[in-house]
Amino acid sequence: MSVAEARVSGELPSPLLPGAAPQSGPLRDRRGRVARKLRLSLTDRCHFSCVFCMPERGKVQWIPREEILDFDEIVRIVRLLALDGVEKVRLTGGEPLLRPGVADLLRRLKGLPGLREIDMTTNGERLPELARELREAGLDGITVSLHSLQRERFAQLAGLDVLPRVLEGIESALRVGFPVKINAVAIRGYNEEEIPALVEYARERSLPLRFIEFMPLDGRGNWDQGSVLTGAEILATLRSSHPLTPLARESGDTARRYRLEGSDAEVGLITPVSEPFCDDCDRIRLTADGKLLTCLFDTHLHDVRGPLRAGASDEELRALLRRSYEEKPPGIQYIRDLQHGFQKPRPMHAIGG
Ligand code: 5AD
Ligand code: SF4
Repeated sequence: MSVAEARVSGELPSPLLPGAAPQSGPLRDRRGRVARKLRLSLTDRCHFSCVFCMPERGKVQWIPREEILDFDEIVRIVRLLALDGVEKVRLTGGEPLLRPGVADLLRRLKGLPGLREIDMTTNGERLPELARELREAGLDGITVSLHSLQRERFAQLAGLDVLPRVLEGIESALRVGFPVKINAVAIRGYNEEEIPALVEYARERSLPLRFIEFMPLDGRGNWDQGSVLTGAEILATLRSSHPLTPLARESGDTARRYRLEGSDAEVGLITPVSEPFCDDCDRIRLTADGKLLTCLFDTHLHDVRGPLRAGASDEELRALLRRSYEEKPPGIQYIRDLQHGFQKPRPMHAIGG
């Protein structure tokens, strides 16, 4: 589609049309929420097959390669977002370390005006080889997903028997000086007894640990309310073994955080299902194939790649990004209110978490 056609079809706004969003200042939605953090998915591919994320092996529909944004395209979109208030970028996947040349991309993103921080969420399996290069390329922090410390359960959850590699990856990241955080998705019937062991692991290394409620974005359609281990339940388990001190919550924080007494480590609860934190959400997402997702629970993907490849100018793209963000839905509460449940935009691996 040409730029002109895109405009006529309504997919690309003209910055000159009345009612178009303002041309400068931060991206702001109708509820006044400002976009400060971008989750940038570099690929939908992953060598794991986590039960709460991917469809079963053999049933995954990977995004065709030609639809994946190249580095020039990614840098251009991030540059425009950073001009309009985005300060932090988190590289995600699928598994971001499967994307060849991540360190090259990092070096290019690091120089963009307005960006203060670039972090990554990874399954950690490639970190033994890549941690040093990522650090040298300027990555600021790493979050490793670690849902179990028992080899067999890990293999069952992640679909790959590589717990020792992931633990080695965490040590490699620490050795080269990264601040490391741990993410654990908590699922009833899978890993609830692992909560104390994960806390002990984090405490021994003074690492922040986050427990995340299972969200209805899994690729297998297995989610149900009963499988959600709620933040309140996790907190009760934590309290029974560790004295906790609540920490202040900053605007936009997804986690309710607690200090483990007598240690530097903190535990956070991310409770999108039981206690959503959508009111001051400051995140947007760009998928590997160039769709802007203004909320995890948005059912609409805003196509940026199409206009970009059709030759849109920077100003046209900025207007498109601005207008797309304006339409950000209220959040997870809104899908609860929908009568017939909700059509997830895509499984988690193709969104980026
Ligand atoms: N619910 C909650 N968290 C999920 N993740 C992947 N799928 C889900 C889900 N259905 C997590 C990943 C990673 C982060 C990006 O999101 O494990 O830690
Ligand atoms: Fe891969 Fe992360 Fe999804 Fe697991 S949660 S399958 S590691 S993208």
